[in-house]
Amino acid sequence: MPATVVVGTQWGDEGKGKFTDLVASEMSMVVRYQGGHNAGHTLVVDGQTFSLQLVPSGVLYPHVTPVIGNGVVVDPRVLLAEMDMLGTQGVDTAKLRVSGNAHLILPYHQELDALHERHLGKNRLGTTKRGIGPAYADRAMRVGIRVQDLLDEKIFRKKLGAALEHTNKVLTRVFNRLPVNADEIAEEYLGTCAPRLTPHITDTIGLVHDELEAGGRILLEGAQATFLDLDHGTYPFVTSSNPVAGGACTGAGIGPRDIDRVIGIAKAYVTRVGSGPFPTELFDEVGNHFVDVGHEYGTNTGRRRRPGWLDTVMLRYAARVNSLSELAITKLDVLDQLDVIRVCVAYEADGQRHDQLPYHQSVLHRVTPIYEELSGWGVDLSAVTKRSQLPAEAETYLAFVEDQVGVPIGMVGVGPGRHQVLRFAS
Ligand code: GDP
Ligand code: IMO
Ligand code: MG
Repeated sequence: MPATVVVGTQWGDEGKGKFTDLVASEMSMVVRYQGGHNAGHTLVVDGQTFSLQLVPSGVLYPHVTPVIGNGVVVDPRVLLAEMDMLGTQGVDTAKLRVSGNAHLILPYHQELDALHERHLGKNRLGTTKRGIGPAYADRAMRVGIRVQDLLDEKIFRKKLGAALEHTNKVLTRVFNRLPVNADEIAEEYLGTCAPRLTPHITDTIGLVHDELEAGGRILLEGAQATFLDLDHGTYPFVTSSNPVAGGACTGAGIGPRDIDRVIGIAKAYVTRVGSGPFPTELFDEVGNHFVDVGHEYGTNTGRRRRPGWLDTVMLRYAARVNSLSELAITKLDVLDQLDVIRVCVAYEADGQRHDQLPYHQSVLHRVTPIYEELSGWGVDLSAVTKRSQLPAEAETYLAFVEDQVGVPIGMVGVGPGRHQVLRFAS
């Protein structure tokens, strides 16, 4: 059975967790393929809220094997705390599997992340300070320490020593900080984390392929989003991994022919946390409406998310680079009370119209959005359970987005709850 990818099409927090959880009911395995605990995925089931950072959003189903793939960066302390938290919420994480090839986030990565941000001053990226960038940098520099290294004390200590040789010079000589103590780290990670994680560590590539060959159905859960992608996002205001659908191949260890469905998650408006260009950003009452009604505060860091109108130029780009087969529009209910809904259909810069994302980013920084205005519906959609109950204005809005992006809409979210979704036949 081929696999399905869930990918964010904007700047994150589109509702990937909720839709992964929903689609996971039909899956046997859910794999996180990149990112780390910079993600915050919220699931609301029967009034109970689950906030996930590392554990895949399929974890709530006993029939699903949740897998943390090789492309993820794992902070073992955070992972164990999350497993404990899920345990207190009545969720069994015994089936969770973690790739031995995934890289570890260690305390010095987090420290370096914060120091780099402070050093950048007003040019800071606004990272989550979870150590994501430094951990991926160590991976690229080939001084990273992998999850499988936790299984062998000698190797772990040797690699840690080698990594710290460089890192401690940077900490002390560049940032004027104290050096990190290798023994303290080894004691905690080998002594406390490794024994608890060992039963979960495995060859997830073998696991994924055995599942595919046995006819199982695999869902690949993206974190972050297309415009935070290291290659395709608004660089340098991006994360350090590849959230796009292609990242699902490298981050889970499968080839493109194993994927036959890519669901792009798009919020009915746009939000962004952290710095970087945002053509349709709003600083007015409508923006406040999106933040207040949509509860747009980070699950992870509590930061207020920057709000803006839906941007179909972005979605066209996301459709291309992810080869989206369908869109899931989330938070349509947040637009309920608006009389007029604007949708950005193109940009204008230097007297030129851009229907596609401008290739040069300095252009993106100075574009003016070109909007089309649509009528609001003035009806509470949160209780709507069937497409036939949607007001005509909402249908017109969805048809307009579909037409602009050129990708069919398969699902529409009308509330945070697992069942507050309308499924469209595609
Ligand atoms: P993710 O990072 O993409 O998984 O998204 P987050 O979980 O960070 O943010 C999405 C927020 O919107 C969460 O609080 C969800 O519970 C909520 N949400 C998801 N879909 C809908 C929807 O259709 N309507 C409303 N009102 N809330 C939604
Ligand atoms: P989910 O999966 C929204 C943003 C940060 C910052 C940039 C780089 O919940 O959608 P990093 O810590 O990754 O080096 O920060 O990326 N960012 C997110 N924004 N949702 C996320 O995840 C994000 N993960 C990282 O705010 O601008
Ligand atoms: Mg989130």
